[in-house]
Amino acid sequence: MFPKLIVAPMAGGPSTPELVAGAANAGAYGFLAAGYLTPEAVAGQIALTKELTVEPFGVNVFVPGEESTADLSEYQQILELVYGTEPGDPAWTDDHYPAKIDVLVDNPVDTVSFTFGVPSADDVAELRGVGSKIVITVTSPDEARRAAEIGPDALCVQGFEAGAHRGIFVDDGSPSGAPAYGLLAALRMVSATVDLPLIAAGGLVHGADVAAVLTAGAVAAQLGTAFLQCPEAGTQPLHREALHGTRETAFTRAFSGRPARALVNRFVEANSALAPAAYPQVNSMTKPIRAAAAKEGDPEAMSLYAGQTYAYAPQGTVAEVVALLDTQMRAAIRSVATALDPASQK
Ligand SMILES: Cc1cc2nc3c(=O)[nH]c(=O)nc-3n(C[C@H](O)[C@H](O)[C@H](O)COP(=O)(O)O)c2cc1C
Repeated sequence: MFPKLIVAPMAGGPSTPELVAGAANAGAYGFLAAGYLTPEAVAGQIALTKELTVEPFGVNVFVPGEESTADLSEYQQILELVYGTEPGDPAWTDDHYPAKIDVLVDNPVDTVSFTFGVPSADDVAELRGVGSKIVITVTSPDEARRAAEIGPDALCVQGFEAGAHRGIFVDDGSPSGAPAYGLLAALRMVSATVDLPLIAAGGLVHGADVAAVLTAGAVAAQLGTAFLQCPEAGTQPLHREALHGTRETAFTRAFSGRPARALVNRFVEANSALAPAAYPQVNSMTKPIRAAAAKEGDPEAMSLYAGQTYAYAPQGTVAEVVALLDTQMRAAIRSVATALDPASQK
């Protein structure tokens, strides 16, 4: 159904047509990230990717949630006082969701994946009608049960190790926003709950990690952080630099109002306990501050999203990273098979 290796959608810049097409041309699979883009930009990226590869690829969309009723004024004041850049307008938006579905119906791709919730049965039927497969990200058995109701082709199971936003459907206001399961635990629990192909995501940066989740029953592994440093990715230079440092990662909703795993910087330390659970309003509020920090070369107020194992991410072009992961995966599987049954490998 999918190649074993999937380059994750990474909204906010890292995902580019070059990264996705490079993955596809190297025998892997990639997702463009429609999040935060205008519908026109999504259509443009799809067209460009189709120029760069004849292989199948997917597009990921954020499902809009309920508008939070949290009071944003205190956080707004703190941001104004501390950062000297006017925070952005905290208006709720649906990230142009209906228009993006229209773009995907008019410009069909192999797979449409959804994060932060479950699409409507009508949207799924329309996308299926133009030949797209449907994938939904889940982080728990409960979400898997709800996602399974609309009959997706596969689920992407995201463990708490994963970089950037948790795919949780509802943010309960706790630091992780909802129960946080490690990837292997989540795979075990979800596979016992629904009978669907599972794509595993979270903290996978080595071929042996990919072998581990395939052994645990996943049909493919989706890696984000492992590809953040590829030259084809649109990752900001200061973000790339920080990935060579030694910062811890932590959940924070300081940047967006929704729990996400980021490298710990001063913004995370100062604001994680203060930020209201209000996505995407907080994301809009902090956008000018993050942009000013990037312009000034200050990583301390940028959202440096990364998975727990970022320090072990491979280096190289997307084709080189795909080839390395494939070699490592095969070596890991061979080595376990040999250890279990030395005679069969002679
Ligand atoms: C910078 C960044 C941006 C991301 N953006 C998205 C996104 O737009 N949509 C999505 O479904 N997942 C997104 N993810 C999460 C990935 O789909 C995946 O769950 C995660 O990368 C797996 O963990 P890893 O980063 O440790 O490989 C993003 C991850 C990163 C690192």
